[in-house]
Amino acid sequence: MKKILVTGGAGYIGSFMIRHLRDSGYEPIVVDNFSSGHLKAVEGFNYNQVDLLYEKDKLDVIFEKEEIAGVIHMASYIQMGESFVNPAKYFENNLIVAINVLNAMQRFNVNNFILSSTAGVYGNPESLPIKEDDSKNPENPYGETKLMIEKMLPWYEKAYGMKYISIRYFNAAGASLDGSIGEDHPEESHLIPLALKAAIEDKEFTIFGNDYDTKDGTCIRDYIHVLDLVENHTMALSYLFKGGKSNYFNAGVGRGYSNKEVITAIEEVTGKKMNIKYGQRRKGDANSLFASNEKIKKVLGWQPKYDLKKIIETAYLWHTKNPEGFKE
Ligand SMILES: NC(=O)c1ccc[n+]([C@@H]2O[C@H](COP(=O)([O-])OP(=O)(O)OC[C@H]3O[C@@H](n4cnc5c(N)ncnc54)[C@H](O)[C@@H]3O)[C@@H](O)[C@H]2O)c1
Repeated sequence: MKKILVTGGAGYIGSFMIRHLRDSGYEPIVVDNFSSGHLKAVEGFNYNQVDLLYEKDKLDVIFEKEEIAGVIHMASYIQMGESFVNPAKYFENNLIVAINVLNAMQRFNVNNFILSSTAGVYGNPESLPIKEDDSKNPENPYGETKLMIEKMLPWYEKAYGMKYISIRYFNAAGASLDGSIGEDHPEESHLIPLALKAAIEDKEFTIFGNDYDTKDGTCIRDYIHVLDLVENHTMALSYLFKGGKSNYFNAGVGRGYSNKEVITAIEEVTGKKMNIKYGQRRKGDANSLFASNEKIKKVLGWQPKYDLKKIIETAYLWHTKNPEGFKE
């Protein structure tokens, strides 16, 4: 059974990734410092508490002990807004951690790497839907860190033969079908969990900006179910194991929903009328972002299974069953 190191495996997407790997016949090994990940999310898994910024020696110990076949690199700080205020924190953690992971792989001759990248690498898109070869002009330091990591990868390939796939996520959302695991970021910044919490707690909810150049004035985003997202990572791994070429893929469903449409869908699923207020635009938010997913469908044979309704239904189940998240 191939062993796959998952950095950030105790985080939101990581906790789905390790379950999908296990269900697909791989042995996931988690490395996380639990700065925003959860112990409960990795119960029953082989996990290692390692700060990848300060404790790279501990990473070497894992590579020495385990025969690792590939790495899925998810460990990162993720908040666009915070990255404007504190770019130093983002450049330090996201870049040095990626370098520490890549260099350990190089030392131990591990040659299959999957990167959690972001649609944020494109910035304000030149055309829609966004294609992988479109120009890349990140509008915030967080997106810039991911683009900088992407730019390192071809050099590791040329020098060390490392194969890589960078997966540029659009908006990951949703929870497990039974509501047992889901999104629990310590400082939540994503629309669906925040709006669902407001609906559940009967609180007012603020949409940032209703003067965007879109059909109803609110931002448009592409929402991908976390189960669909992790599935394409496992497919990307197996593609690399079969000798597939290094590549970059968008991971989205290929259609956008406005914030207002998401709220309407939340009202339909929860049966509650939401109390909506409109606030100022958030710095760094593009009008409209949705993916062309033709490339990932063609090369990996991936097909998203879940729609916005299923995303909201599963997230609603998770939040109602676990009002305090993982409670840690
Ligand atoms: N959530 C989204 O919609 C989205 C969109 C685009 C890209 N991504 C990317 O997906 C990945 C996972 O995102 P998520 O939403 O699960 O975030 P998350 O915060 O839940 O997960 C990140 C994990 O990385 C760990 N981590 C951070 N710094 C670390 C360090 N120095 N050493 C060890 N562990 C460290 C955290 O403890 C956490 O468990 C990230 O790389 C993120 O940039 C997420």
